[in-house]
Amino acid sequence: MKCVIIYWSRYGHGKKMVGYLTEKLEEEGVETESFKPDEIDPKEIPEADVYVFSSPTEAFRIKKDMRKFMKKLEKMDDRKYGIINTHGMKRNWLKNMDKILKKKGMEKLAAIDFQIVKEGAEEGKALPKDWKDRLDIFVKDIMIT
Ligand SMILES: Cc1cc2nc3c(=O)[nH]c(=O)nc-3n(C[C@H](O)[C@H](O)[C@H](O)COP(=O)(O)O)c2cc1C
Repeated sequence: MKCVIIYWSRYGHGKKMVGYLTEKLEEEGVETESFKPDEIDPKEIPEADVYVFSSPTEAFRIKKDMRKFMKKLEKMDDRKYGIINTHGMKRNWLKNMDKILKKKGMEKLAAIDFQIVKEGAEEGKALPKDWKDRLDIFVKDIMIT
């Protein structure tokens, strides 16, 4: 099984989660590749069994780099995905991510969000205590057997 992860992260919370996710998937024997949106052409995304998109909310929207990337995806019909959203306010923006990917004909396997209550320059210090447990469940949900 192969998993391609596309993520954007300003303060490192998303990045930290992608690191953990990669570790866990590889423990399960899954080949993983991760990219930031500016590192890869959305029209030529590598073949994978599952795609993970991870984005913060900024200015009441999915961070522009990720939003634009997802909107430009091509030939993704019937491909499977998991989504991760980090946000400072109570509301999550998973529905907005879903809407874009559903329009591409993709199929959702899992969705997870984390409220980041405090932020700062220090890398990923404000993730909730149970973040690893919740990501472990996310990993199980995106496994294709
Ligand atoms: C410029 C800016 C705008 C933001 N706007 C929102 C917002 O509209 N709604 C929200 O819930 N969080 C907002 N946030 C908080 C981010 O969602 C939070 O910093 C991010 O999820 C942390 O993830 P990261 O460490 O991976 O960047 C904003 C943060 C920044 C820096």
